[in-house]
Amino acid sequence: MGRFYITTPIYYVNDAPHVGHAYTTLNADALARWHRLNGDETLFLTGTDEHGQKVADAAAKHDMTPQAWTDRTSARFREAWDALDVSYDDFIRTTEPRHYESVQKFLGAIYENGYIYKGVYQGLYCVSCEDYYTVEASDHGNCPIHGRPLTEMEEENWFFRLSAFEDRLIEYYDTHPGFVTPETKRNEAYAFIKGGLRDISITRTSIAWGVPVPWDERHVFYVWYDALINYLTAIGYGRDDDRVATWWPWSHHLIGKEIIRFHCVWWPAMCMAAGLEPPSHVQVHGWLLVGGQKLSKTMAAEGGVKLTDIAPVTLTEEFGVDPLRYYLLRETALGNDGEFSYEGITQRYNTDLANNLGNLVARVATVVGSKCAGVAPAPDPRSELAAIAESTVETAASAWEHFAPHAALEATWALIGATNAYLERHAPWKMAPGEPVERVLGDALEVIRLVAVLVSPAMPGVSRELWRRLGLAGSPTDELARESLVWGRYPGGIAIEKGEPLFPRINEAR
Ligand code: ME8
Ligand code: MG
Repeated sequence: MGRFYITTPIYYVNDAPHVGHAYTTLNADALARWHRLNGDETLFLTGTDEHGQKVADAAAKHDMTPQAWTDRTSARFREAWDALDVSYDDFIRTTEPRHYESVQKFLGAIYENGYIYKGVYQGLYCVSCEDYYTVEASDHGNCPIHGRPLTEMEEENWFFRLSAFEDRLIEYYDTHPGFVTPETKRNEAYAFIKGGLRDISITRTSIAWGVPVPWDERHVFYVWYDALINYLTAIGYGRDDDRVATWWPWSHHLIGKEIIRFHCVWWPAMCMAAGLEPPSHVQVHGWLLVGGQKLSKTMAAEGGVKLTDIAPVTLTEEFGVDPLRYYLLRETALGNDGEFSYEGITQRYNTDLANNLGNLVARVATVVGSKCAGVAPAPDPRSELAAIAESTVETAASAWEHFAPHAALEATWALIGATNAYLERHAPWKMAPGEPVERVLGDALEVIRLVAVLVSPAMPGVSRELWRRLGLAGSPTDELARESLVWGRYPGGIAIEKGEPLFPRINEAR
């Protein structure tokens, strides 16, 4: 048992949450749930990034003050996470007093340490990225990501001496091989540092929507420079040293690949400058893109659908919360780009959920009804499924440890497949009532119990429902994983419930 501190990026509140945000948040949620099951003291942080030009512009466009706008939009993120069964322990908003306090103390420390100086910033800026570009990095004066014209900026700013940290960052990377995963993303960040670092402008006088610079009231901090500090605000930086010492530097920052530079270059350097250890781990994931024919075709008439137009809650109305969670976790390995498609989610639903898991549960319950009068038999301690189950548990546990939810689920479904094959082979529905049929069914019930625990990080609702149908008391997460994920714990002798199909098939031709 240990500690597990996991964070998501804090999302901009210029607009509503979309499937991309849900992807990160749900992966973080499942990882947090696994670690809780594992007995780790767990802190799962998410929240909203509420300062900066982009948010101020969105507020102005809606004729609202930035504060009123962020109050409203931040609430939409919390509502979405509640609807998706996200078990965050803390939700941070960068407009909270606790954050102002931590930011001012943290940056005050960097200032005291001599890494902040005054200069003139002159260059190109993209508001959508809230990021600077050099002429060479721009796409003929346009943002290389958003394609929109970059804004010329010239301002007297405070600068962070990022260039002073080149050598220390390289040394940190060399001595901490697991700092950034996967390896390809680590190499990207490393190459960026090796290419040479320029100092960064960290304050603004042109906007007022930000955290005031404590030593120069005319300035507010540049949004990225306050945002990254949220990971320390939440554990009490500048307010509760013991709590900081409990959680820092053992954080796991889960992020999308477009914000590698901020998290893997700036952030560790900022920590060094403030006299702290850098975070211990950044897990980078790829982008979900919309590729689904149906989704894009039907929407094309209305101008084409972007991933950012898809509200996660709408999808739960169609597929249910847990199937959406399952699809997002199962389909794409963290680190790779993935495709989000209507066909993809429908197919995962029908194949993995309806055909494999749903069918296993339904046929076992049916045969227990017809051969055992609905009373569950106990598993055989020497069942041939026991060894498969044990190795599944090992594979899944190691996959969760290594930030690979898709692999944990893949292993779990291999066990489900093996159990369906076991049933096909023994055909308990053809056997006479008595001990042999009971042994087969007891084994299958034990697999379902194990599956209930194994899927709980990804599908907490389905997990509880399986548990209930098995006639078990309490909840699948009452016991620690290493105690409950052992073959032979299903007691038998209890009435099980057949229930409605867990995953009614979805018509693919619709
Ligand atoms: O960058 N696929 O906020 P943001 C996968 N406020 N993940 C996606 C995605 C997609 N298509 N689109 C978005 C910011 N995401 C800053 C972060 S942290 C100190 C400050 C996810 O609202 C992914 O995690 O633009 C990405 O990194 C994040 O949303 C960006 O959210
Ligand atoms: Mg973004």
